Amino acid sequence: MTANYQAHGDVAVITLDNPPVNGLGLATRQAVADAVNRAQADEAIKAIVITGAGKAFSGGADIKEFGSPKSLQEPNLLSLIALVEGSTKPVIAAIHSVMMGGGLELALGCHYRVAAPGTNVALPEVKLGLLPGAGGTQRLPRALGVEPALNMIVSGEPVKSEMLAMLPGQKLFDKITATPASLMDEALAFARSVADVRPLPKVRDLPARHPQGDAYFQFARNMVKGMSKNFPAPAKCVDAVEAATKKKFVDGMAYERELFINLMWTAESRSLRHLFFAERAASKIPDVPSDTSLRDIKTVAIIGAGTMGGGIAMNFLNAGIPVKMLEMKQEALDRGLATIAKNYEAQVKKGKLKQDKYEQRMALLSTTLSYDDLSAADLVIEAVFEELSVKQAVFKELDRVMKLGAILASNTSTLDVNSIANFTARPQDVVGLHFFSPANVMKLLEVVRGEKTAKDVMATVMAVAKKIRKTAVVSGVCDGFIGNRMIEQYGRQGGFLLDEGCTPEQVDKAMEKFGMAMGPFRMGDLAGNDIGWAIRKRRYQEKPHMKYSKTADLLCEKGRFGQKTGAGWYDYVAGKRDAIPNAEVVAMIEAHRKSLGITTRKISDEEIVQRLVFSLVNEAAHILEEGIANKASDIDIVYIFGYGFPAHRGGPMNYADELGLFNVVQAMHRFAQNPLDDAAFWQPAPLLARLAAEGNKFN
Ligand code: 3HC
Ligand code: NAI
Repeated sequence: MTANYQAHGDVAVITLDNPPVNGLGLATRQAVADAVNRAQADEAIKAIVITGAGKAFSGGADIKEFGSPKSLQEPNLLSLIALVEGSTKPVIAAIHSVMMGGGLELALGCHYRVAAPGTNVALPEVKLGLLPGAGGTQRLPRALGVEPALNMIVSGEPVKSEMLAMLPGQKLFDKITATPASLMDEALAFARSVADVRPLPKVRDLPARHPQGDAYFQFARNMVKGMSKNFPAPAKCVDAVEAATKKKFVDGMAYERELFINLMWTAESRSLRHLFFAERAASKIPDVPSDTSLRDIKTVAIIGAGTMGGGIAMNFLNAGIPVKMLEMKQEALDRGLATIAKNYEAQVKKGKLKQDKYEQRMALLSTTLSYDDLSAADLVIEAVFEELSVKQAVFKELDRVMKLGAILASNTSTLDVNSIANFTARPQDVVGLHFFSPANVMKLLEVVRGEKTAKDVMATVMAVAKKIRKTAVVSGVCDGFIGNRMIEQYGRQGGFLLDEGCTPEQVDKAMEKFGMAMGPFRMGDLAGNDIGWAIRKRRYQEKPHMKYSKTADLLCEKGRFGQKTGAGWYDYVAGKRDAIPNAEVVAMIEAHRKSLGITTRKISDEEIVQRLVFSLVNEAAHILEEGIANKASDIDIVYIFGYGFPAHRGGPMNYADELGLFNVVQAMHRFAQNPLDDAAFWQPAPLLARLAAEGNKFN
């Protein structure tokens, strides 16, 4: 079923019925068009109401159809809206819950709109690298006023129906119903009240004007330029809305169409559409059915109130879930508690959190020094020192006290989750929950699935992640899991680039121009260069044949650990995060090169970007092949949400797909010829080599 038709006396009700969000795919458009024609032909029908079944009026065009002939096939969305607008009987949209994109554009083609309070109204196309392509940029400014319409179109953010209805002079909503439940009754009554009113009002006939015209649009362009440097769509939104104020309606529509189609083919839009589905796909685990019954998580315990423990606690407090924190000493608890309070107070000061909300959250937090006090928690997350023996002691205690069925999680970043699970007599209840620092801010959560982790534990923690607003990705057990295992290779390449002639600043600038939130050396300074140093020292023992640049070790030997010591690859002024290049570091790198007899060469930004990004891609291909990641799109999500990879590139795997895997492999063969690089690493992973040979893609 895609839309159904029911006559309520003299009013025909057409209900979009295309779960989950009544996307306006071809079959649905056809069904609505058929239903409108049927109502038109039926003499007993005086008015038509269009509404949506289930949890939305409509989430808009069916994004899955984009780029396929189906999205253009008749009746396309424009034709359907024209059919509705051209109806000789009044058409009333009865709107509730969610009205987005093409859903709003369809409603704007109706003659009247009756909306339930609390409806989320948006034109979110810009978030997919597009602009509204079925009249949204031409009709919304006419219905709502130019400024509020442009704000909605450029931001893509939802606004509540009752807020929009308060805008002076707005013609978007003819009525906001008393309650969501009274929508249909009120819409039917409204339809009958306007059944004989002629001429039928059409949004397209309204004027779209701005008193400051050119000056306003110039201002809007400047604003948008600063906010969206890697995305072409927001500036095009301004152009299209300006056209609504300057061109005739039909010419504005043609202009909007042209801009929409051009944006549809940009790499940026393809990347954002990829991420839309990748984010939703990440929560699905191939062998864990979506109807797996979940364990009830009402209370949480956290072991260790340090950097991570405190941040993790805040996530649960923010979601209204009580947290009990355990430490070995009262001073450590006091310190942890004070840090949490300080973080919240900073939010209150900035006006981001209300005082009463802060108090409510703190009231959900309690502390203890005794494991026996934790026994009732449904989920316990360990965030103590990163040493296996310490984890062992903690998990033995947890095994002793926790109630049956409780989920026991570790926030370890490097240790073997299977070993940790085997410290208990219930390895099926043990899972890794790898938060990223700062844990109350970073969106990414790697869920590490142990050999024995039960399916319902996996399903439960994925649901918990959603509740605390994290984007969770499943990783198998391996050193570094998905994200840090890849970043190790990226860091190694960064070292070779310094040996061959780059400065940290040149590498960082090239990567930041590519779109990374931070280049690799600034990132090292932020995370602490000592962390990588400790890992390398381990690697020198485990993998003595693995090639490394020694530059980073030399830096650490000088105690330049990064921001926390005020000096790393760069210098830092206390209280500031600006990276100031340091001549001694550059001299140190040059001296090291000299000691190795390396003749410096000029390395292009393109080579820097390719070597660093392809090092991620090759390691990721191994990760995929080993089944550590379930799908390539999960890896893209890890890098976008955890490592500042640019969204407009869609993640490293999507970027490689866009370039063509054949080209990626050819570049790796070239890099392998470089005697200062690691030829063995640049052998393309078998999966990558195969996909490239087949002309295939990761995603
Ligand atoms: N097309 C196709 N599928 C869609 C969709 C759409 N417009 N919107 C949501 N879905 C799918 C999701 O992929 C997901 O599928 P899955 O269960 O198989 O993973 C399912 O619906 C549920 O989505 P969410 O998990 O996001 O559900 P929520 O209830 O949290 O949110 C929503 C619902 C607010 C509608 C949210 O899904 C959303 O923001 N969707 C995108 C809306 C959008 O961008 N619309 C504009 C489309 S472009 C357009 O209309 C072009 C026109 O101008 C020509
Ligand atoms: P931290 O040193 O800031 O905090 C650890 C806390 O655990 C301290 O407060 C300490 O008193 C407490 N503790 C130690 N042993 C304990 C025990 N037996 N019982 C109770 N409490 C004990 O360390 P941090 O950075 O919070 O790291 C914790 C864990 O999180 C580690 O496993 C680390 O690998 C992991 N992690 C750290 C990240 C980071 O960026 N800091 C990122 C992701 C994971």
